[in-house]
Order: sequence, then C-alpha cells, then structure tokens
Amino acid sequence: MTDAVINLDLPGPVVSRHQHGHFAEHLGRCIYDGIFVGPDSPIPNDNGIRLDVVEALKEIGIPNLRWPGGCFADDYHWKDGIGEDRPTVVNSLWGDVVEDNSFGTHEFMRLIELLGTEPYICGNVGSGTVQEMSQWVEYLTRGDDSPMARLRRENGRDEPWSVKFWGVGNESWGCGGNMRPEHYADLARQYGTYCRDHGDNTLYRIACGPNVDDYAWTQTLMATVGDLGCGCRPTDHFQGLSLHHYTFGRSWEQKGSATEFSDDEYWYAMANAFRMDELISRHAAIMDVYDPTRRIGLVVDEWGTWWEPEPGSNPGFLVQRQTLRDALVASVTLDIFHNHADRVFMANLAQTVNVLQAVLVTDGEKLTRTPTWHVFKLNQGHGDGELLPVAWRGDRAVRAVAHDGPRPDTQLPLLHASATRRDGRMLLSVTNLALEATTATFDLRGGTATVAGGQLLTASDLRDEEVTVTGFDGASIAGGVLSVALPATSYAVIELDLA
Ligand code: AHR
Repeated sequence: MTDAVINLDLPGPVVSRHQHGHFAEHLGRCIYDGIFVGPDSPIPNDNGIRLDVVEALKEIGIPNLRWPGGCFADDYHWKDGIGEDRPTVVNSLWGDVVEDNSFGTHEFMRLIELLGTEPYICGNVGSGTVQEMSQWVEYLTRGDDSPMARLRRENGRDEPWSVKFWGVGNESWGCGGNMRPEHYADLARQYGTYCRDHGDNTLYRIACGPNVDDYAWTQTLMATVGDLGCGCRPTDHFQGLSLHHYTFGRSWEQKGSATEFSDDEYWYAMANAFRMDELISRHAAIMDVYDPTRRIGLVVDEWGTWWEPEPGSNPGFLVQRQTLRDALVASVTLDIFHNHADRVFMANLAQTVNVLQAVLVTDGEKLTRTPTWHVFKLNQGHGDGELLPVAWRGDRAVRAVAHDGPRPDTQLPLLHASATRRDGRMLLSVTNLALEATTATFDLRGGTATVAGGQLLTASDLRDEEVTVTGFDGASIAGGVLSVALPATSYAVIELDLA
C-alpha cells in the first residue's frame, strides 16, 4: 500500500504564483540597512536600493512585495514620504526609533521596477483618512492632469505606475485600530468605495481579515462586505480577505529560542505551522457561504516563524536566526498553500530582510541567503502550475502533539507534499518531518511518468543554521509507484516528465 495517490489526468485549480510573495515593513533593519542603504552608501546600489538584495530576490522569482506594513501601515502617512523635504516621525511600534521617511513611495516603486515584481501596498485605515488613501491610489495610478497626478510629476515621475494589490488597513482588530469587526466591516466598505480604479489600473482590494482562528471576524466581514445592499456583487468592492498566522514554539508567550530548542519544541512549532491547513479550511468554509464561486481570494499576507528575539538585539526589531526547522516550516506551509489553490490567491512571508523569517540577512556589505530562501528557490516551479491533488491514505503516519490550553492534540502528519503540472512536467515537493529516514510512496494514476531530476534540502541537525541543497537521486518509479527515499528532517523536490 502506498502513502498517497496522485491522479495525473485530473484537472485542478492553478496555484497562483502570488502565493510565493514577500512582505517588507518599516521595522528594524528590514527597509533601512536591509533593502535601502541610501545613494551615498559604498554598498552597490541603485538610488539607495541594495543591488545584491535585488539580485537575490530575483533569483527566487519574487512575485509581489507587500509594503509599508504591517502595523506600521496604519501609522504611515504617505505624503511624508514624497518630495524633497520629508518630515521625521517616530516609529513607536517598532523600536521607538526615528523614521526619516527617506524610503517612500517613489523608492518603493523603484524597488518594484528593479525586482520586476508586483507591488502590494497596504493603506492606512487606523490613523488615516478616506481622502488620504483615495489620494494615494490616485497619485500612484492616474495618468491625466488630476491634482495627484500633477503632484507625482512635480516629484519626477511622469507616467503612472501599475498598482493592483491594495490592502485596506492591517490587523484592524489589533494594532490597526483595535476595532470590532462590525465597525471595520463598515469602514472597509467606505474605504473600498473611494479607492478607485483609474484608467486601466484595476485594483484588487484586500480587506483586513482575521487573526488566526477568529472565525467571528471572517463571518462578520463576509456578511457585511458580501451583502452591499446595492445590487452589487461582493467582488465589485473587494477581491481579497487577509489572514495572519505565525508559527512559534510552545505558545505565543513562550515562543522559544530560534536556535536552541528541544525536539519537543520542534514538534510544537511544526504543529503550529501545520495549523495553517485547519485555519484556511475553516475560514474558507465561511467564505464559501457568501462567495460560493470562490471569487474572493484568501490572502495570507503575514506568515512565518516568530521566535524570541536574538539575545542582545533591540526586541522591537524582531531579529532572529534560522535553522533547518525554519526551512521545514516554510516547505510545509507552501505545500498547504498550494493544496488550497482554490481559495488562497496570495501569501506573504514576514519579512523579506533581517526581520522574523527573512529570506535574506545583511551585515554591512555581506549578504546571506537563509535556509528559507532555499525553500523558496526550490518551490519556484510550482507558481502558476496546475494543482495535482495528493490524496493521502487514511493510515498516514502522524505524531500527536499536545498543546497548552483547551486545544486538542494535533495529529501532525510526518509526510507533507504538493504537486503541480505544467508543460508536460510535474513538480512534486515532499517533506519528511520525522527524526528518522523514510521512504514516501505515491501511486501515480492516469498516466505515466519518468523521473527527470530532483534536489534535496537538509542538514545534519535540526539546529544547524546552514542547510545543504544537493542533487537528489532518491526518487524512482516502478510499476506506476513513485518512491522517494528521504533522510530525516528533509525536503525534496522531484521533477517528472509526464506522458
Ligand atoms: O510582522 C510583524 C508584525 O506582525 C506586523 O507588523 C503585524 O501586522 C503583525 O502583528
């Protein structure tokens, strides 16, 4: 008996490449030092933007970048970040440092151009105004002689930019205003109305969705946003709903060390990461009631590991190191997103450089690609592929992980996978979370396949801060069954030619 069945001839939804998106906030050393060093820096840059960072993000095919927050978005007034004379403000949310606004709208859009990616801008609902948000959209995207288009030209940019993804506030249930869902839902309708499509720029508006398992928030949002009482469809005003879920150790209060952790803490973290599957399923079930044809996308615009801050660092800067454990959190989470392709349109890892589960770390001129960067690199081929669902058999091996509080044990599967097909090729991701080696077997039905190549990511210990990525020859097919021999705690991608 194999572990799972993959039907090669069944149609599936497309895995949006935007699931592999990233998030950069004015927090700690993410923007300043991480992405932006200023034009006078000896570090090679374009208008102050680090070219090594741009190159490394292009290598993983970054599909979109969310900015300027996070919590910072609801404290950010975009006019502070344009023109010659920019005021300083206090970033009281993150480290209580002075923000000089030298990285603003034009710098972000230059970064987007250098990356060849799509911008996802989060507007300010918490402390801003409807007019302020409406004008930002106009400033960015309007082509004629409107007041905001003129202001943009005065600041050196003639042509409008294309900005599709637009967040209407961030964590409005918390740092974004501590609102009740009823209040935010009405504001979302109001702000959504005044964030207009200019010319051929069509916005994809993303309403602030729930914190983790706040199903009541999703229910209220979908009921309010989904019934506009004007004969309009929900998708006329909103195209996306966000969800935030972070992975930590035993609990939010006991996040645990990034690098010094016990096997038990590894299991807590993996159970927490795997919870993403349950969260997406449950929020999606509520969304289905109001949007049965699944036109509103779930946008998991903050996810990733969140450990105790690096000893000696500013706790408000959210600095952490990474190990193989972070890489496995990423591989399992990306599988979950792929497998929910029918609802998850976009996701954004927190946060691109130097903060939380960053893909890159900078130290002066030095740039390091983290274990997580490698997982994104290996996953690239899934973007825009057609999902081939992996059907696990009922006796899939699990480990029971107990939690503090009333939640029942998590029955954490030890094997995780996702598969996509494109241009006659299938890409299969498989993660082995077990502390022992194992062979995963897949019954390939409805076609024939031959192994064309593969790569393996692992390390000699879970706590290793460096992972190895090597060619993988542990996959073979016999009698229509694909066998993948995986070392302990490892992640493999296998390419198959389909006939
Ligand atoms: O990513 C760090 C913070 O986590 C974000 O600013 C906020 O939205 C979330 O609480």
